[in-house]
Amino acid sequence: MNTKTDLSSPIGGQGANLGCIFLIGFMGCGKTYWGKKWADHSGLTFVDLDEIVEAQQDRTAAQIFAEDGEDHFRDLETAALKSFSGNNIIATGGGTPCYNDNINWMNNHGTAIYLLSSPQNIFSRLVNETKKRPLIQHLQGEELLFYITEKIKEREFFYRQAGLILNVDDFAEDYIPAIIK
Ligand code: S3P
Repeated sequence: MNTKTDLSSPIGGQGANLGCIFLIGFMGCGKTYWGKKWADHSGLTFVDLDEIVEAQQDRTAAQIFAEDGEDHFRDLETAALKSFSGNNIIATGGGTPCYNDNINWMNNHGTAIYLLSSPQNIFSRLVNETKKRPLIQHLQGEELLFYITEKIKEREFFYRQAGLILNVDDFAEDYIPAIIK
């Protein structure tokens, strides 16, 4: 199998006993979509970190950003992240690995998997989904594509510390069993 730096293949790294799985990657890369599929194949319980934070707060992420600021949201998502381990597959928020040393925590408590997707594909998925996402709700068209492109560049330092990288632009459900041991 290819190493994780060979992005011509949809699957990097080796099949492994992955433990708790943390799906990381930019907004709209498919963390929830793939997390649910992965849960079906693995018997792990699917958890969406944003939903946990929103349920705990009884507010949407957009409300938390607006009322208490992004720093407070980051502290809430970090606390929620650290309450999980064991048989879970966790769809994190797009910024989760980039704050509070969370990528190291994930790497020490299971397997972080970066779902890599091109800025153009992410744009296509997000263009009608901006309203509930506080970082992009004011953006559209070229401005949105520019933001996505630049923000991914900024965040890839963290995303690429994942133990496994899946190029989801070229990935199929059939590949999942090959990764799970
Ligand atoms: C964020 C992504 C969102 C949510 C919040 C901040 C980010 O999650 O956590 O709006 O910083 O990229 P999704 O990646 O599930 O959209």
